[in-house]
Amino acid sequence: MKLILIGPPGSGKGTVSERLAKDFRLKHISPGELLREEMAKSTEIGNEVKRYMDRGELVPCCIVSEMVNLIILNHPDFLLDGYPRTLEQAGTLEKAAKIDLVLSLDLSEKIAVERISGRLTCEQCGSSYHLKYIPPKKRGICDKCGGKLVQRADQKPEVVKQRIRVYKEQSLPLANHYKKKGLLKGIDASGTPEEVYSLAKNEVESIIPRTI
Ligand code: AP5
Repeated sequence: MKLILIGPPGSGKGTVSERLAKDFRLKHISPGELLREEMAKSTEIGNEVKRYMDRGELVPCCIVSEMVNLIILNHPDFLLDGYPRTLEQAGTLEKAAKIDLVLSLDLSEKIAVERISGRLTCEQCGSSYHLKYIPPKKRGICDKCGGKLVQRADQKPEVVKQRIRVYKEQSLPLANHYKKKGLLKGIDASGTPEEVYSLAKNEVESIIPRTI
């Protein structure tokens, strides 16, 4: 099963992906996470990546596509969370894999911004929480690994605005691209995490039977 999740920043891609990947035994590939790991290592590539992410810009296609392609090579069943983000990336991906389903998380800009501004991320395992909607059991501490919860650097309002602008300009055309190929299923992402997950799960189950 080869699955793609698209949607604006803050639409819940990471939250839904985590559960889908677990329930359907898919390799969860999040370029955002991979890039943050690279940044934390302060390698030459990491420092270059930081310059783009801090501004809310997309990281150059060659860096991201190479990272993704390496993982895809070794994992026949995967879920791409936030890749592709441009038609160019979609073209690169099409040469490497045959996609089964593209889920588009549809959410208004207003709610997406509210979700991003309340997000807390575990600095150890990357799990995501929300101050109001998905609070951790213990304040500031990750339920899963006990790591410290922090705000992401790209959560600053001016960076969020730019990420949304970039999404509209460069990523929105993807929906039409996959619609034309008959692969796109839209999901109303405005409900509770459970409701959104259930809609996504139904779409995936219409392609393959659940494995657990
Ligand atoms: P990335 O980390 O992928 O960020 P993003 O796409 O902007 O999305 P977010 O992670 O902000 O949100 P999300 O949709 O995953 O929502 P989440 O589940 O966290 O990318 C970061 C950067 O990396 C990019 O700006 C770019 O620079 C670079 N990059 C990444 N991919 C790239 C690519 N392909 N090419 C080039 N550059 C790339 O949820 C958000 C919040 O809402 C959380 O607090 C969560 O707990 C909460 N929440 C989730 N669902 C619900 C719900 N149903 N109800 C209430 N709250 C909810």
